[in-house]
Amino acid sequence: METRIVKVNRDNPEVELIKEGAELIKSGKLVAFPTETVYGLGANGLDEEAASKIFVAKGRPQDNPLILHVSSLEEVKQLVKSIPKQAEIIAEKFWPGPLTMIFERSSLIPDVITAGLDTVAIRMPDHKIALELIRASGVPIAAPSANTSGRPSPTIAQHVIEDLYGKIDMIIDGGATGVGLESTVLDLTGELPTILRPGGVTLEDLKPIIPDVTLDLSIVKDEDNIIPKSPGQKYRHYAPKAHMIVYCGQVDDIVEAIKNRAKELIEEGKTVGIMATDETKSSYQEGMVVSVGSRKDMGTIAHNLFNVLRNFDEKKVDIILSEGVEMEDLGTAIMNRMKKASGGNIIYV
Ligand code: TXA
Ligand code: MG
Repeated sequence: METRIVKVNRDNPEVELIKEGAELIKSGKLVAFPTETVYGLGANGLDEEAASKIFVAKGRPQDNPLILHVSSLEEVKQLVKSIPKQAEIIAEKFWPGPLTMIFERSSLIPDVITAGLDTVAIRMPDHKIALELIRASGVPIAAPSANTSGRPSPTIAQHVIEDLYGKIDMIIDGGATGVGLESTVLDLTGELPTILRPGGVTLEDLKPIIPDVTLDLSIVKDEDNIIPKSPGQKYRHYAPKAHMIVYCGQVDDIVEAIKNRAKELIEEGKTVGIMATDETKSSYQEGMVVSVGSRKDMGTIAHNLFNVLRNFDEKKVDIILSEGVEMEDLGTAIMNRMKKASGGNIIYV
């Protein structure tokens, strides 16, 4: 398949190019597009056959449901049984933005989207290109992250090209995404509002509005035997090809432990990538040292994380030794992705 790549201005999207993308969506084709979190792989969310193509292109397990993207709260009505008052208040505050909410689904939605569940995930992205594309398509757009299943999510168009070129119809290149991690998934259908996947809208952001919000156990605990409520949380994810170890604890202890381990590995003839931070990178004398961002601004780490993981793959390192961060605010989402990327390989120092 020929994949058309078009560059579109993020702040002032070219109407003609957006229309072209929307026509493809309407006719059941696949279009990758930027959002403020990561690039999405879009298809008509009301078209069973179109949405099925997403699973094939990504190599995604069929039991992992998709998020529907809308451009207004109004559009949610037809997709759900009802909009709880709480959801309305949350949408008012955080939409458009990096927050997905789980609702009881309506019968309009094809089963392939929800993987047969009674619920559906919906979000309104905070990105002009995404919003214009949804509006021009006139349908909710189903879109998982636009990566091959299991790989780190794409934060620039080049990542999408690497994974999906030749497998999809169009890639809209709108430059780098903002947050860099996927949206927060918030379940409002249970007894307590529960974060199933931490992201750009944090627990701390949500608390003042929904004080009883909690983190799902699978995020808090390291054990593998907790059954996740979000099907996507059970897969190894965001994973670089290299083996990866994450070090958690006091920063000085982390640096010491990574230095020691790097030395041993290099002596064994291994190529070692070190994922450091601005504050620590000059402490390392060996290995391929890359700073993922500043500990003083977690947003920079979230923004760069997936790109750094992909770059280590390109450099063909055998093993990545990564500094962990505090599990608070955006750090919760960062650690969640690092845990998944490393397959749970965490060392507490
Ligand atoms: O930021 C994002 O959310 C990006 C951009 C493109 O919007 N999309 C994204 O989609 O990350 P995806 O498919 O990679 O992740 C969707 C997550 C998965 O963990 C999935 O299991 C969960 O949402 N999910 C979807 N529908 C669900 C449902 N009905 N109940 C529980 N979890 C659900
Ligand atoms: Mg994904």
